[in-house]
Amino acid sequence: MLVSYVYVKILFLLLVIFYVESYHNDRKCAARSFFNRSVVCVCNATYCDDVTREEVACGQYIWYTSSEAGLRFDKFTSRLENFIPSAQSSYTTLDLNVNTKYQTVEGFGGAVSDAVGINWQNLTDPQLKQNLIDTYFGDKGLQYSMLRVPIAASDFSTHVYAYNEYPENDYELSNYSLSYEDYQYKIPFIKAALAVAKTPIHIIATVWSPPKWMKNSHEYTGVSRLKKEFFQTYADYYKKFIEKYSEEGIPIWGITTTNEPLEGILLIVPFNSLGWTSLSMGTWIKENLGPTIKNWRPDIKILAGDDQRPIITFWFEIIAKVMPEVLQYIDGIAVHGYLDKLVPPDILKRTQELFKNQFIIATEYCEGLLPTDKLKVDLGSWERAVSYTQNILEDLNYNLTGWIDWNLCLNAQGGPNWVKNYVDSPVIVFPERGEFVKQPMFYAMGHFSKFIPRGSRRIQVRELSFTTIDNVAFLTPQNTVVVVLYNDKNESRIVNLILDGKQASVLTEANSITTVEISNGCDSL
Ligand SMILES: *[C@@H]1O[C@H](CO)[C@@H](O)[C@H](O)[C@H]1NC(C)=O
Ligand SMILES: *[C@@H]1O[C@H](CO)[C@@H](O)[C@H](O)[C@H]1NC(C)=O
Ligand SMILES: *[C@@H]1O[C@H](CO)[C@@H](O)[C@H](O)[C@H]1NC(C)=O
Ligand SMILES: *[C@@H]1O[C@H](CO)[C@@H](O)[C@H](O)[C@H]1NC(C)=O
Ligand SMILES: *[C@@H]1O[C@H](CO)[C@@H](O)[C@H](O)[C@H]1NC(C)=O
Ligand SMILES: *[C@@H]1O[C@H](CO)[C@@H](O)[C@H](O)[C@H]1NC(C)=O
Repeated sequence: MLVSYVYVKILFLLLVIFYVESYHNDRKCAARSFFNRSVVCVCNATYCDDVTREEVACGQYIWYTSSEAGLRFDKFTSRLENFIPSAQSSYTTLDLNVNTKYQTVEGFGGAVSDAVGINWQNLTDPQLKQNLIDTYFGDKGLQYSMLRVPIAASDFSTHVYAYNEYPENDYELSNYSLSYEDYQYKIPFIKAALAVAKTPIHIIATVWSPPKWMKNSHEYTGVSRLKKEFFQTYADYYKKFIEKYSEEGIPIWGITTTNEPLEGILLIVPFNSLGWTSLSMGTWIKENLGPTIKNWRPDIKILAGDDQRPIITFWFEIIAKVMPEVLQYIDGIAVHGYLDKLVPPDILKRTQELFKNQFIIATEYCEGLLPTDKLKVDLGSWERAVSYTQNILEDLNYNLTGWIDWNLCLNAQGGPNWVKNYVDSPVIVFPERGEFVKQPMFYAMGHFSKFIPRGSRRIQVRELSFTTIDNVAFLTPQNTVVVVLYNDKNESRIVNLILDGKQASVLTEANSITTVEISNGCDSL
């Protein structure tokens, strides 16, 4: 084992590579390590690690690696060589075929729950708060291009509430106003993000529960249905939110048709929800939500589902079968990832075959939520970064157009959350120490979000060797090819990437995520 490892290293040194420090001086991770874990990178008011996506010159390729051992976006460069098939080595070799293209990328991002805004404001120091925004949305950060925002409370709020709680049975929503949480936490956070992002941020808004009086249970939690008499009022409840946020200078790009509607049927969780049967939701979309939104703002995307994978088959397919008219209002299908280890992704393939005019996008995922997860926040966990990486790779290879994380930042407990449903987050804040830390999950997200901009097309990857490695490849609007590789082995591996008769050789460290960006379509070597 050791011999082959040294052999690989020596061979690799024979390839001409440069450790890139000369382009932009990236700030290195200020690493803090934990027993038996990978590192977190510590950011304070005066220091936060960053990374610039370099422009690849003709004939060149650049790769960025993060590893369990502690690399974080470490940058290397080399020059393409001619690929000689007959001299094919025993290394893993992947052929990148830009002529076969699949889905177009919408973007990557996370959610601004009340908890996120509260944790961000709690950092108090303006420069520290700015560093958190920059590290997610800035040019030297992850360059997130999507956000999801709860319409009123989710479970990641300090208390449960909705807009227009009073007066009750108010068909006209005459008393609809945004909450303290919107003005104090969510709106300032989103505005700060919009101010630094170079790509327009596409924001998806979602209701967890409408006001109690619209529901037959007259409760925020538990089994419930929307009262038929308030179908139109609930559609207007969405429209008013879009109007209110627009007035604040925040454009809403899309809405989902209610967060996790199965929760309000099966009673899996103790937080605010609204249950929908397939047929009643179909009726609501067809008669109320669809016309209300599309006759007013046809550009607003309506995303159905917004629940775990099975809902697509057991629930959305029924709507589509019984009421195909619903489909004219549906732009896409939103999927959450919590059952992905149990429900194989073939469901996604079937969905695409059935609904050719709708895109699929992942709208929620996090780690640490299972009852078996002893640690809600597990600082430095590499396993959790691996879960993110494998989930994103799988979804992208099944034609999903984007991937949106759950809370952008949480406190050390994994909250605040009004039902104590604490979970992990890529960024954990420590206001009392004047710092926040970036977990391995943060870098896992960045290996995709930073290098696969909106408008990128996934391309075909063909395996030319007996061995392979988890991968996904894209052609970007800058006419470069970006490949993300996940090396799950505990030894480093060389991977050869073949593009148009030229070869890029990349050393992937043991247990590492690597993003390679290769120049495309220029002849000079
Ligand atoms: C170290 O972490 C691994 C994976 O989380 C675990 O299997 C192992 O038991 C841990 N060892 C100790 C000493 O905590
Ligand atoms: C901020 O972080 C940097 C880099 O780790 C460190 O040198 C500096 O002392 C920290 N500042 C404070 C106030 O802790
Ligand atoms: C309007 O809502 C506010 C809370 O946002 C409440 O205090 C007030 O009583 C409501 N007005 C009516 C007429 O119910
Ligand atoms: C992805 O979409 C292409 C068509 O663009 C299709 O041929 C392929 O089967 C899809 N892949 C999956 C895994 O669904
Ligand atoms: C805000 O930070 C303070 C310490 O500065 C801490 O005591 C408090 O619990 C934090 N609030 C939340 C909601 O995490
Ligand atoms: C890699 O894992 C194998 C077993 O899976 C083990 O025998 C070997 O010692 C490990 N090597 C390193 C460098 O950790």
